[in-house]
Amino acid sequence: MAELSRGNFGSKLGVILATAGSAVGLGNIWRFPYMAGQNGGAVFIIIYLACVLILGIPCMVSEFIIGRHGASNTARAYSKLANGTAWKVVGYMEVLTGYLITGYYAVVSGWCCNYIYASIAGELKGDPTYVSQYFENFCSDPVRPVFWTVVIFLITHFVIVHGVRNGIEKASKWMMPTLFILLLVIVVAANLLPGSSKGVEFLLKPDFTKVDKDVFLGAVGQCFYSLSIAMGCLCTYASYFSRRTNIVNSAVQISLIDTLVAILAGLVIFPAAFSVGISPDSGPKLIFITLPNVFNEAFASIPWLGWLVSLMFYALLSLAALTSLMSLHEVNTAFFYEELHISRKKGAWIVTVSCGIIGAICSLSLSKHSGLVFFGKSLFDIFDFVTGQIFLPITGLLMCLFVGWYVPKNIVKDEFTNWGTLKGTFYGFYLFSVRFICPLLILAIFLHQFNVI
Ligand code: TRP
Repeated sequence: MAELSRGNFGSKLGVILATAGSAVGLGNIWRFPYMAGQNGGAVFIIIYLACVLILGIPCMVSEFIIGRHGASNTARAYSKLANGTAWKVVGYMEVLTGYLITGYYAVVSGWCCNYIYASIAGELKGDPTYVSQYFENFCSDPVRPVFWTVVIFLITHFVIVHGVRNGIEKASKWMMPTLFILLLVIVVAANLLPGSSKGVEFLLKPDFTKVDKDVFLGAVGQCFYSLSIAMGCLCTYASYFSRRTNIVNSAVQISLIDTLVAILAGLVIFPAAFSVGISPDSGPKLIFITLPNVFNEAFASIPWLGWLVSLMFYALLSLAALTSLMSLHEVNTAFFYEELHISRKKGAWIVTVSCGIIGAICSLSLSKHSGLVFFGKSLFDIFDFVTGQIFLPITGLLMCLFVGWYVPKNIVKDEFTNWGTLKGTFYGFYLFSVRFICPLLILAIFLHQFNVI
């Protein structure tokens, strides 16, 4: 009965677009292209695809299994399968990771929104020193980033309170296609620039000499992050899947969309950057400093086109961030409203207000004299470090061990094959991967980031 009162995704397309919306985020745009370009081009892309196959998809399928079986928020979904054992802690860890990330992810999403405004208002026009100064001043300003964090939270809140089908699914159904179209248009614009083919070559030219252990582990880490694994998002969304949703097919399609967006992002960044001879980098610096410069330079002779491309690019980024933020918000909203037995609306407000405050504090920690700097790191960086480098791999590792070794195999197989109605051809491979390969790979990235291996 309890299941009936929960929302559900209404269609297969809704499932794919909403979940791909969670996966496609800033990581696809500011991290993947650079890694691919630096680490052997097409060879990196092939290694990455192999990681998606042997690590990403099995982890995603595992979260889907836990989520759909539980048909409840992530913490409870784990508890149901844990049968009173300590394994239920993993579910709480996922929710906590999601909770801690929501605030600071919103800050960066807010920056993207500001850059839409700045593109329209022409605030990004100027020489490179001006552009980098603009970013420094903006993100250390005590008011403006906080304002945009609040704006993006209110938009997310608005979507979330409309529920799963009328909120998340409806929003994803127009946001994701819009994102894709924007991306395609910008790819075309960037590749029409003179000299852009050098950029395509940089991204795609296979170079086997670059491949070493670091490249391999980099691809593993990127795959894990890019597919939004171990933060409760996949598990929460899966709790709204129907019994007919084909879990394996969905995971494959979502991963393909995620990878395609990442490659297309590379086909914007490198052609544009190479055509004007600016060397691209990664992270916030790439999208908030380097690319505005690239757009200014590349379209210097046709300013209206530069204006349009810049506007479209930041709209695209904001959409990517927004759909991810929605999934993070939903993890927490589902948790609060089911565990505290309050209404969904109240649950959503608790998340919006408390994460909004965390976000505001993170944002303020970047202004010069905030006093919110600990161990030489701003609160913002500390959140990023603790969640991304510590919580994420540990939770992911435990999740794989839980599904691979603890959860009764008849439950896993039933979910995998939709109660025997699907063939389940890859079940053996899946189980082997989630038992052995995934835990070892995750352990390897965890140790690698602390230079142990
Ligand atoms: N996958 C997102 C990206 O590529 C980032 C991310 C990781 C994320 N985990 C998440 C987003 C959980 C939302 C929810 O940028």
